[in-house]
Amino acid sequence: MLYRSRKTQAIINLSALKSNYQNIANLAPHSKTIAVIKANAYGHGAIEVAKSLHSQVPAFAVAFMDEAIVLRTAGITLPILILEGPLDEKDFSLAKQHNFWLMLHNEQQVSWLKHHPDYTEKLWLKIDTGMNRLGFSPESAKEMLTNLTLEQKQGLVICSHFSSADEADNLKTQDQIACLRSFAQKYSCQISLANSAGIINWPQSHDDFNRLGLALYGTNPTPAKNMPIELAPVMTLQSTIIAIRNLAIGESVGYGESWQAKRDSVIATVAIGYADGYPRNAQAGTPVFINNQLAPLAGRVSMDMITIDITELTGVKLGDVVELWGENLSVELVAEHMNTINYELLTCVSARVPKVYINQET
Ligand SMILES: Cc1ncc(COP(=O)(O)O)c(C=O)c1O
Repeated sequence: MLYRSRKTQAIINLSALKSNYQNIANLAPHSKTIAVIKANAYGHGAIEVAKSLHSQVPAFAVAFMDEAIVLRTAGITLPILILEGPLDEKDFSLAKQHNFWLMLHNEQQVSWLKHHPDYTEKLWLKIDTGMNRLGFSPESAKEMLTNLTLEQKQGLVICSHFSSADEADNLKTQDQIACLRSFAQKYSCQISLANSAGIINWPQSHDDFNRLGLALYGTNPTPAKNMPIELAPVMTLQSTIIAIRNLAIGESVGYGESWQAKRDSVIATVAIGYADGYPRNAQAGTPVFINNQLAPLAGRVSMDMITIDITELTGVKLGDVVELWGENLSVELVAEHMNTINYELLTCVSARVPKVYINQET
């Protein structure tokens, strides 16, 4: 193992990942649950995550071709759905070669497809039911389908993506479900709608395929709602204390002197900063977890360090482990203090933070 002087690391718990997958898939027993592992498996390491889930899942999904090729090169043999579809005409040949499933969402992709009648991997056609980002309107989709060969129509999946499924009482989701169903019923095809929040909040959206992303990693896609199942955080981001100092009342901490001690204070400096993916816009008061206690961030986040007010904590010393989020401190709670969301925090942990995989099956 490589020598590491700095103890900052992201611990990735693979048994938590596997049990999250199973618990969520069990909510939709009649669907095939695809594991979405784009963006390096939401920051958890796509190859390791794919290897760990390989025996449990029917297929993986990534955003674009390059992410899929990384997985194939690493020996992942399951089908891989490419959510943004072909971004270059060459992608059809690569998809055929590697057994990738392409999701088509614009006219250019369909015009490329016409040159590839031999492309017979599973095709997905995306319908825009109200997200207004990708996909065909139901009217233009009808026209697009006339361009597919009989073989390409066989095994076709008609799909859409929810804009607001995390809001359990937002009726937009019902409208999106109704729109896709009404379109799809005219064709003999499979359907896919639900993301994490759809699987959890909207059982009526469960279909042939569901596409499970965020919740797989043990964090709640609908923070306002209690989860119907236990999810275990997969990533724990941690570092250690590299300095401790006493401040007199009125003294400041860090760049811009944005934090001033309102009493005599004790400040711990921790070896993680915005270059590691701990956002610079974290507000003073953002919690961290040290020795079974919570302590607030004090002062601005620097490139390699943060400073914590440990005045009220007992027994803290140099070298103690500090959890930024994970097993003891939920990433969604931390995100609230940073004006962001759990998705962004997980995916932005930078490459200089080593990942340590635990509970790997041998
Ligand atoms: C088309 C599509 N399906 C499924 C997902 C997974 O969503 P979630 O992470 O909310 O489960 C995403 C993620 O952005 C997506 O873009």
